[in-house]
Amino acid sequence: MTSSLKVSFDTKPAKADILVVFAAEGGKLLDAGRSADKKSKGALKRAISAEKFQAKKNQTLTIAGPAGTGGTHIVVMGLGDPDALSFRDFEKMGGTILGLANSRRAAAVQIVFSKGDLKKLSAADAAVSLASGALLSSYRFDKYFTKEPKEKKPTLKNLRVVLDGASAAKSAFAAEQARAEAVFFARDLVSEPPNVLYPESYANIIKAGFKGSKIGVTVLGMKDLEKHKMGALIAVGKGSIQKPRLVVMEYNGGDKKQKPIAFVGKGVTFDTGGISIKPGPGMEEMKFDMAGSAAVVGLMKTLAARKAKVNAVGVVALAENMPSGDAYRPGDIITSMSGQTIEVQNTDAEGRLILCDALWYVQEKFKPTHVIDLATLTGAVLIALGGEYGGLFANDDALARDLVAAGKATSEELWRLPLNDAWDKAIDSTQADMKNISGSRDAGSSIGAHFLQRFIQKGVKWSHLDIAGMAWTNKDRVNVPKGATAFGLRLLDRYVADVWEK
Ligand code: BES
Ligand code: MN
Ligand code: ZN
Repeated sequence: MTSSLKVSFDTKPAKADILVVFAAEGGKLLDAGRSADKKSKGALKRAISAEKFQAKKNQTLTIAGPAGTGGTHIVVMGLGDPDALSFRDFEKMGGTILGLANSRRAAAVQIVFSKGDLKKLSAADAAVSLASGALLSSYRFDKYFTKEPKEKKPTLKNLRVVLDGASAAKSAFAAEQARAEAVFFARDLVSEPPNVLYPESYANIIKAGFKGSKIGVTVLGMKDLEKHKMGALIAVGKGSIQKPRLVVMEYNGGDKKQKPIAFVGKGVTFDTGGISIKPGPGMEEMKFDMAGSAAVVGLMKTLAARKAKVNAVGVVALAENMPSGDAYRPGDIITSMSGQTIEVQNTDAEGRLILCDALWYVQEKFKPTHVIDLATLTGAVLIALGGEYGGLFANDDALARDLVAAGKATSEELWRLPLNDAWDKAIDSTQADMKNISGSRDAGSSIGAHFLQRFIQKGVKWSHLDIAGMAWTNKDRVNVPKGATAFGLRLLDRYVADVWEK
């Protein structure tokens, strides 16, 4: 885990470099703000009026060198209308405070809630959201910097939240902390370079990550993949000296008789495109082609950490897609574990190939009622939805609705895209049961989804999340710093909590 931020809750204020107090729309200080204003001999009110500070939601006013608080700065955090605030607003404020504290080179920041600040949310809920927003924003992947100047390193080490009912907030935060650690684990996996993280090493990291937990991990190596006749996964991995793996994570926290829900992730540790090789510029990005698998690994970690009352199985298919004398080629006809044959027309449409065997395997072995797969499957989903929504496909309306709702609640938003029989027909092959591309650029993400759907068994409720546009961000976003996002993890954790644990 790559964050050194410590969060604590207390009922009494203490000394800190930066004190944060709240103000409502128009610059009206709330209780803690008024008392800080008195201590600082009116510095807050003077600054508010001099700056015409409106205290709109997430707007801040920083006062340097105030008298009376013992710290370096006081920050007035605007709330807008305090009664219209949501969890998400407080999460966002947490990120804002973190950024501000680091830019002022503070080591400790203290945020003070006072009784009656909020009517709609409890102070404890708001405090927990704020703290978890700050924590999620504090992630950095800096292990490969050997000479980063000190000025570039974040300074903030302690975030202290003061409120009545600190102990309730503290216990509620424990679950958020566990989830954030799983998010960091997943972000680390995605950030690791492909010379370090390849199928074998990745499988070992997963095993180590679940040691001593309630999750049973099984790693299927080449012999097992051959035994199960996973011809599609094997074909994709063939061009690399790093042989593919399939990793199964089992968690049984629910009723013994309850069939599990299955999560399946695409884990292409590097996607060169294979013989249908990708253009050079930007190819380094294809280390994140295992982000779907990382979200599944992180999700399983979270479910176990918070003892979710559900039976869940996570399966990740790991392979490296390389060109070589031994690589699979366009024209090859391969036999998937399901027995269905596939004419390979493009070795760069490899994600659907590794997933089709993983999907079949999990249905045969675990008989799940629901299967949800996550994959950086198509560039086309980026064209459609950019970096704002993951693409959702589903064969069941209730499942689609529940996933979209969980996405909204966690700011990991999904947008449903269509399936259509015409696109299913488009992957019929003249040489085999199907081909792995349609041969046209039309509806590329839907074509990928239809390919996967051919491996979903009768009666199984299935959703495919195409996260190609969401796995990595080149700009800082709310609670998601530049880089790997772990998109899908918090959304699916929420889905499990809201739909399966009710
Ligand atoms: N991993 C890529 C998809 C991708 C593209 C993810 C950009 C993230 C950013 C996938 O394996 C791929 O290459 N898809 C092809 C499919 C095509 C050959 C039908 C694509 O999208 O071009
Ligand atoms: Mn590809
Ligand atoms: Zn790929």
